[in-house]
Amino acid sequence: MKIHGGNVLRGEVEVSGAKNAALPVLVSAILAGKPCTFERVPDLMDIRTLCKLLANMGMTVDFNRKANRAVLDPTSIHSQEAPYELVKTMRASVFVLGPLVAKYGYAKVSLPGGCAIGARPINYHLTGLEKLGARIQLEEGYVIANAKRLVGNRVAFEYPSVGATENVLMAAVLAQGESVLENCAKEPEIVDLARALRAMGAQIEGEGTETIRVQGKDSLGSCQHSIIGDRIEAGTFLCAGFATGGEVRVNGITPEFLEPVLVKLEESGAIIDRGAGFIGIRSKGRPKATDVTTLPHPGFPTDMQAQFMAAMTIADGASVITETVFENRFMHVPELARLGADITVRGKSAVVKGREKLKGAPVMATDLRASASLIIAGLCAEGPTTVSRIYHLDRGYERMEGKLRALGAEIERVPE
Ligand code: UD1
Repeated sequence: MKIHGGNVLRGEVEVSGAKNAALPVLVSAILAGKPCTFERVPDLMDIRTLCKLLANMGMTVDFNRKANRAVLDPTSIHSQEAPYELVKTMRASVFVLGPLVAKYGYAKVSLPGGCAIGARPINYHLTGLEKLGARIQLEEGYVIANAKRLVGNRVAFEYPSVGATENVLMAAVLAQGESVLENCAKEPEIVDLARALRAMGAQIEGEGTETIRVQGKDSLGSCQHSIIGDRIEAGTFLCAGFATGGEVRVNGITPEFLEPVLVKLEESGAIIDRGAGFIGIRSKGRPKATDVTTLPHPGFPTDMQAQFMAAMTIADGASVITETVFENRFMHVPELARLGADITVRGKSAVVKGREKLKGAPVMATDLRASASLIIAGLCAEGPTTVSRIYHLDRGYERMEGKLRALGAEIERVPE
């Protein structure tokens, strides 16, 4: 991605459906008894990978990318396996484990392995499924889960893991009897998944709180469901608008989903307008240094840490950014330094001393949100910046350069 920095972003932008909601929601179609229709499915690399994985099991997948609509028919599923070749490219593939063992009594899913931002084990997924009666074995890099029928139980998560909550919730809806899930993750994407499951006929209460109660059903029907807007994409555009000193309105997003980020943007001097389905941001000049600590929802999202840090590199003063969710999520720091940012990492914290100006340079994206932070920094920097390895960006942002161009950015995709 080639950027010529210095333009002030102004205008309106529409966010796509949330990647992190669409992934578990599409997987939940495994549990359905009939075809399901999902709207506002973002056309992203991760979604295409998931469609391949589901089709590989025999699910009939009709993803109309232009219309952002996916029709999934689970009645043709003939295999309960997720091979290494597909799982290794996308961790979210492990979501299929719970639904497969709940519906078919068997699942064989490759272990995802490590990823750039940390070790990311799946032990909470596995102990949760064991609590519902699944027998779990690890063989040659695969998790094999067996059960005659899952049985409802109390599952207390050691940590409010997003993925584990989703996996175990999907399993519980077809278990026999009641399940009480405690210390659940409360992210808006979990609420969206529960809504989709309920539309299929699942009986769920308490999503979005610490405790989710599920009355298991023998089978589910079909559903029609529209995915929520992507709060991380919205937050990325807000940070870009703010850091360039502009005025941006982000449409298609519920402001409450992003409240932990909005509060921090206000603290750093932005003027925020919260409306029905939109958020506006206006900058009053250079950002003020503001400290943030990432935490599970409703804390500051780890998926916004890199983008917020990009805004802080040009802030007035020094900010401390602390990452508590993932152990290795500062890989954007040395790349931001190439643009002139002054950042020192000490353990879980990064001290960012704001500079008046950044200067363009060639940089390399290391993961999805890191690539977004480099683009924001490039938009603020003087002169040209080239961000390479942009495939990370395509995993999670739909037509990002087009949306930024419409806001006045000088950015284009060029062959590497
Ligand atoms: C999801 C999001 C990701 C986001 C993250 C935290 C999706 C597809 N991805 O990832 O974008 O950054 O939530 O908001 O929705 N952990 C364990 N054992 C487990 C599970 C997790 O130790 O079994 C640890 C992880 O290594 C990590 C922390 O718990 O340090 C949080 O992970 P989790 O909430 O599970 O994140 P994901 O579901 O992987």
